[in-house]
Amino acid sequence: MKNEPQSGAYVIDGGFKLYGETEIMSAKNAVLPIIACCAAVRGEVRLGRCEQTSDAMAMLDILRSLGGKCRFEGMDIYIDCRGLDKHTVNRSLTSRLRSSVFILGPLVAALRKAEISYPGGCDIGVRPIDIHTSGLAALGVKLTEDGDKIVCDGRGLHGGETVLPFPSVGATENLMMAAMLCRGRTIIRNAAQEPEIADLQNFINACGGRVRGAGGKVITVEGTDSLHGTDYVPIGDRIAAGTFLIGGAMCGGEVTVKGADPSHLGSLTELLLAAGAEVTEYTGALTVSGNGKLKTVKKAETRPYPGFPTDLQAPVTAMMAAGEGKGYIIENLFENRFRHVPELRKMGADITVCGRAATVRGRRLHGAVVTAEDLRGGAALVLAALKAEGRSVVKDIYHIDRGYYDFDEKLRELGAHIQREKV
Ligand code: EPZ
Repeated sequence: MKNEPQSGAYVIDGGFKLYGETEIMSAKNAVLPIIACCAAVRGEVRLGRCEQTSDAMAMLDILRSLGGKCRFEGMDIYIDCRGLDKHTVNRSLTSRLRSSVFILGPLVAALRKAEISYPGGCDIGVRPIDIHTSGLAALGVKLTEDGDKIVCDGRGLHGGETVLPFPSVGATENLMMAAMLCRGRTIIRNAAQEPEIADLQNFINACGGRVRGAGGKVITVEGTDSLHGTDYVPIGDRIAAGTFLIGGAMCGGEVTVKGADPSHLGSLTELLLAAGAEVTEYTGALTVSGNGKLKTVKKAETRPYPGFPTDLQAPVTAMMAAGEGKGYIIENLFENRFRHVPELRKMGADITVCGRAATVRGRRLHGAVVTAEDLRGGAALVLAALKAEGRSVVKDIYHIDRGYYDFDEKLRELGAHIQREKV
């Protein structure tokens, strides 16, 4: 089936400018917590403009394993969890994606119990879940560890206050969902402010929940008795949009991305302008244009939203590597998120990594055989290959399938010479 994660490689001939527009669909990092949230919704949910990425399919499999009914119809996901009555998610499912941890909150909310094996995900860092578990404990959930399982007893679940030691996106979302069906008021302080969190709030409220403040540092949840079904279209994927914009700036030409909110990409727009690309904002669309000859930006530092997003760090590293001049990129969010660097070096990149900082000296890149090590690093290798002189092969592209659907097809429509090959 087309939407199964397939092994394979991209064969790319670089050096072609990109022209045209691409439609951005619902954000992976909005859709995943919203799918998990449906475990606590007692009615049918339709989610619009969704793509069959392997992460979305994996999260739907988790709901099915718990007794939920889910199906894709074109770009719509239909979910009905009225028959969901199981609370244990086994390792074969949780190991497929880090976001499986999002199921804890909704299960504790709906069934007052949950049991999952530690989640998997990209090897971009240790990715502990201590902020999730300490937040749940603050709401009265008793957590125990049994081997590699986390067992949650939510019979004592109550509204409460908690201050996150770090504005963790997933922990913020998990706690919003744990609190949505419990008596009383919950206040989450030092909450993450990513746009996907406000989207989750809007989804919960569309189902009859009462959440406010998302997008700011303090989120308040008034528990309600139940959540009903709804029809919802999640926000456009700002990271996918940013990836195409960076590709357009690197290759030269003119690329328009429609369907993502330009206000979610302010920090990237600044970097593209500093690199010498032209960026024009429209309602619901952004256009990047230029000759592809970019200056290497002096410095890019990842930060929690609204700072420069860590998920665009690898694509921007590729952009800097192919530019002219010297710059620094600093990754503050994850401790192992430069795995694309050794692969970029195979293409002639001059990058030196020291801890969380990389020094980049722009070079003309040449084609090479490289391997994707994680989702965003894989996308960065594709962008570098589109810019490089000659032919490249990007292997292990199942990492890229997790968050970019039909990536090669969309790039071909913009004029890229890229083919997906089975290997
Ligand atoms: C979400 O991951 C995103 N995933 C990530 O996108 C994104 O990179 C990240 O937020 C930061 O923006 C989804 O939304 C599905 P965090 P999450 O909790 O929630 C540490 C992609 O490529 N931390 O904000 O896991 C953690 O180790 C993916 O689309 C703890 O120490 O990110 C990291 O250093 C990759 N303890 C930092 O906080 C915890 O309990 C940020 O993590 C939780 C997190």
